Amino acid sequence: MRILSGIQPSGQLHLGNYFGAIYNWVRLQNKGEECFFFIADLHAQTVPYDAATRPGIILELAATLIAAGVDPKKSTLFVQSQVPAHTQLSWILSCLAPFGELERMVQFKEKSDANPQAVNVGLFTYPILQAADVLLYRPDMVPVGIDQAQHLELTRTLAHKFNNRFCPADEPLFKEPQTLHSTTIKVLGLDGQRKMSKSFNNYIGLVESEEAIWEKLRHAATDPARVRRADPGNPDICNVFAWHKLFSPVEVQGERAEGCRTARIGCIDCKKTLFTHMNAILAPIRERYHELMRQPDDIRQVLEEGAIRARKESAATMEKVYNLVGAL
Ligand code: ADP
Ligand code: TRP
Repeated sequence: MRILSGIQPSGQLHLGNYFGAIYNWVRLQNKGEECFFFIADLHAQTVPYDAATRPGIILELAATLIAAGVDPKKSTLFVQSQVPAHTQLSWILSCLAPFGELERMVQFKEKSDANPQAVNVGLFTYPILQAADVLLYRPDMVPVGIDQAQHLELTRTLAHKFNNRFCPADEPLFKEPQTLHSTTIKVLGLDGQRKMSKSFNNYIGLVESEEAIWEKLRHAATDPARVRRADPGNPDICNVFAWHKLFSPVEVQGERAEGCRTARIGCIDCKKTLFTHMNAILAPIRERYHELMRQPDDIRQVLEEGAIRARKESAATMEKVYNLVGAL
């Protein structure tokens, strides 16, 4: 199977991104699937950002992905803006995309409501660029978080429209890819209420220092008192317990649940155990990340090699596209 996915360089990667998306990337790669993963820097230009710090953020994200298990020897890892076909196909698809359907995109509504002074056309056409990212490589599956389902639905619509309009019936150019959601649908943030997100500043970074993580964890919300009064001793209403399910061995989860039910374990002790297990998983990722960041030129080189492969693959698709749409 061929797999493709992307992630925006809009800040540091957090546990929500890891369990909601990257974990799945690595699993598919290690199963031996043919993977294309990229850093969606053009998408990240649709909201206000600082151009001076962006190249550094891209390199840090690449290093974090590699440290988290994306192996450039097995997968093609590249940066979107280094592959011109993405913007080329985006234009062609934009001439097929129904305006009304774009207006119904939940992410567009959310982002434009959040920042009404900064609504640009790129934010509106964002899902078309995303469809181009995907269709160029003709993947079978696209592993993404649940919030991206609507964009993938549009991707399939555009593939279908292009094939119908420009291809012989027995020779469609584009594949309509399936969306693959991770089993961890949503990781909640430090507030225990909203999804973990850079925008809510309620996250734990994948490569944050041990001290910083403990400082955040120490203050993280546990079970909300209001709910606890109605449902005392139920670990499933506590977000710290939800995190145990991600990091701690099953026996430890059972023991914590029992301790919670009988009020035998205090929240701080429960968090200390979580911290130990979290650290066992995050420490090797963090160490590898710092090792990689000491040689930024090597990361650039890896990305350049990925871009060469991606350019070759996508240019071949573009040539077919231009022929089919009647370009001279
Ligand atoms: P953020 O909300 O921090 O800006 P992004 O929107 O850039 O994160 O998300 C990148 C990927 O990670 C997407 O596939 C998204 O679905 C997934 N993801 C982000 N936050 C979470 C979360 N809290 N739980 C599960 N998956 C998440
Ligand atoms: N929009 C995706 C996100 O915010 C990132 C992305 C851009 C993407 N292009 C893609 C994901 C193509 C999968 C496939 O998470």
